Amino acid sequence: MTQAQTDIALEPWWMPFTANAAYKSDPRMLAKASGVYYETPEGRRILDGVSGLWCVNAGHCRPEIVEAISRQAAEMDYAPSFQMGHPIAFEFAERLRSFAPDHIENVFFSNSGSEAVDTALKIARAYHRANGEPDRTVLVGRERGYHGAGFGGTAVGGLDPHKVAFTPLVPDVAHLPTTHGLEVNRFSRGQPQHGAELADGLETVISEHGESRIAAVIVEPVSGAAGVLVPPVGYLERLAAICKEHGILLIFDEVITGFGRLGARFAAERFGLRPDMMTIAKGLTNGSVPMAATLLRGGIYDTVVAAGDGIELPHGYTYSGHPLACAAGLATLSIHESERLWERAAALAPAFEDKLHSLASAPHVIDVRNLGLMGAIELDPIDGRLGERAQAIFRRCFEAGVLIRITGDTIALAPALVFEEDQLDVLFGVVGEALESQ
Ligand SMILES: Cc1ncc(COP(=O)(O)O)c(C=O)c1O
Repeated sequence: MTQAQTDIALEPWWMPFTANAAYKSDPRMLAKASGVYYETPEGRRILDGVSGLWCVNAGHCRPEIVEAISRQAAEMDYAPSFQMGHPIAFEFAERLRSFAPDHIENVFFSNSGSEAVDTALKIARAYHRANGEPDRTVLVGRERGYHGAGFGGTAVGGLDPHKVAFTPLVPDVAHLPTTHGLEVNRFSRGQPQHGAELADGLETVISEHGESRIAAVIVEPVSGAAGVLVPPVGYLERLAAICKEHGILLIFDEVITGFGRLGARFAAERFGLRPDMMTIAKGLTNGSVPMAATLLRGGIYDTVVAAGDGIELPHGYTYSGHPLACAAGLATLSIHESERLWERAAALAPAFEDKLHSLASAPHVIDVRNLGLMGAIELDPIDGRLGERAQAIFRRCFEAGVLIRITGDTIALAPALVFEEDQLDVLFGVVGEALESQ
């Protein structure tokens, strides 16, 4: 570390999702960012292979976004959204509605993916109550799903290590089986062929709880946090059909897949589906100001508002529709629209896929999978030391000037949609060398 860094006290900040003791004994810092690069405090350039944390889809520190935020900060820093409004929030909601799939009609703003998810789950129950079905309270997630760190999102999530310290969680929750089937789908390019029938797990949940009890199903169209789990061909379509048949709301958690990541504006478009709700965050402001939204198909807002007496949905956040976030979001949308970033991602995806799969024969690689600009390399864990192999690769890549993401023994890659092919070469060159060094 540099002299300047050793002067910083590391203890006070309890860092999120971090092995604090290990990190603080060997900290890695980022100090600046521009385009697809970070810079460390010592001035080392780091190629960002994961768009920050799946969020900086248009590249870092875009001048249009920087300028919009600073202009708004000087004009009106904050305004309340409870029984008061400010034009930029309405303007952004309308722009977002036009950017979103056609069937989306309303937008509820929050500040993080976790909040967008908890909002969606609450709206699902409120909607059924308003619609005369108050017993529809069961929320269905999926094994290995990740829906943020709120109590609702943790409960419907399917990552057991995230739950053990916090039980009991929210009642009336059930889970579908994971779609991750290494035995049959190993090294799939794009969507795996096997596993559409796993959607029928919803029929099992329905028969266990009763058809009239299921409020909603929430899934990530492609799971990110669990290590890029791509849905088998036909799976999401089958899930959507079962939901429709039984009056169950389908929520797509598009916190990662939204804003071009899969080569379409949203996963809903990529798969040609019309989920009742979509949760979005991350790419919404290009990671620049915390913001999230829950997008609703027509009919949900109207039903809840019509049934309400006074404040129809006692829910929201001090910073819902924050002016700085709206300014950042408007500038971000303009970049996506003028540069058609989702088409850029679609054009880059085949090269990304080829280069990713070229690492399939590297030592200890047990799977490679991808969709759009999401990719993963899964490694055989060292006996009894889960995650250690990927940790070593992560460090080696960082030393060589590349930022990747690891979860357990899976390496995840998600370059910005503005990556160039030669930057992909650097990314995969460094990851490949790190893999060979094991
Ligand atoms: C699918 C999904 N949902 C929700 C979240 C939570 O978002 P946040 O960390 O902004 O609360 C994440 C974060 O990675 C995510 O990937």
